[in-house]
Amino acid sequence: MNDLPASLETVRARFAEAAAAASNEETLEELRVAYLGRSGEVTAIRRGIGRLPPPQRPGAGKAINDAVAAMEDVLAQNRDRLAARSAQEALAQRIDVTFPATRPALGSLHPVRRIIDDACAYFERHGFAIVLGPELEPDYYNFDALNIPAEHPAREGFDSFWIRDDLLLRPHTSPMQIRTMQRHHPPVAIVAPGKCYRRDAVDARHLFQFHQIEGLLVAEGVHFGHLKGMLDGLCRALFGESQRVRFRPSFFPFTEPSAEVDTTCPKCRGEAPACSMCGGSGWIELGGAGMVHPNVLREVGYDPNAVSGWAFGFGAERLALTRYEVDDIRRFVDGDVDFLEQLGALA
Ligand code: PHE
Repeated sequence: MNDLPASLETVRARFAEAAAAASNEETLEELRVAYLGRSGEVTAIRRGIGRLPPPQRPGAGKAINDAVAAMEDVLAQNRDRLAARSAQEALAQRIDVTFPATRPALGSLHPVRRIIDDACAYFERHGFAIVLGPELEPDYYNFDALNIPAEHPAREGFDSFWIRDDLLLRPHTSPMQIRTMQRHHPPVAIVAPGKCYRRDAVDARHLFQFHQIEGLLVAEGVHFGHLKGMLDGLCRALFGESQRVRFRPSFFPFTEPSAEVDTTCPKCRGEAPACSMCGGSGWIELGGAGMVHPNVLREVGYDPNAVSGWAFGFGAERLALTRYEVDDIRRFVDGDVDFLEQLGALA
């Protein structure tokens, strides 16, 4: 026991190091028992005093007492350290009821849905009914009844998805003209929005699944001027009061005369020769229109000498491209939440 001070010092240092590393009160208590407890290391050293020559005993006793006091200090310091840390943790975990809540992510209506709703609302204000019909149609509704007999070249213009020889995914909403007129006597005034399908390669202007809005008005004395007025009003309601509409002569088997309908490019208003939306023409094509062909009226049992009507079919994505000044139709279907949120924030 001659090297008592040295071995006490080693024990004390080992104890201090272990105590500093302790991460909880239990570990500290285990250390206290292991060093200072009844069968602890320091207690064992103290028991050795009895084997020392009597003159050395008081010195050894004092050295041990000093070491024990120092170790108890270390214990106390580390208890304080742990207590301070857990108080800090409690503070960090405290719920701050004044903290602003996390906003739940709210979706918004898809821009194509919105433009369809707005277009329908415009027609409803003018007394039109909204009708919905099947996306899978017999060729009768899609073609024959619309004055497009089998072998007619116009069938080729609708690159269709055929399900069976006589059943296809509708490439336009015009079948709803027939379905409506077969069910109701004139006058009829309807809009029929819905999905359409064509075997088109997807690019900036084409999707193989898209939406159309069909319109049909049949009554006594309906003429082309009514069509122009309604479509002009539609474009102003959707895109702004200064919007204009242009009709270009065209051909559809189910209308005569027929027209392609364009509206002023809202991006450049015809003033940018390299406009990314209209290619500099100043006009954006919305779809087809015309006066309902007498053959179509006859097919549904209407008398073409008693009633007349107009019809139109607009691409809903076209309307949305125009309103939101988007130059690639694929943006509407690629599920980009940032894009949808941006448009959702617009009026
Ligand atoms: N159904 C025609 C198309 O999809 C558009 C149209 C509808 C034309 C009604 C005239 C009248 O191309």
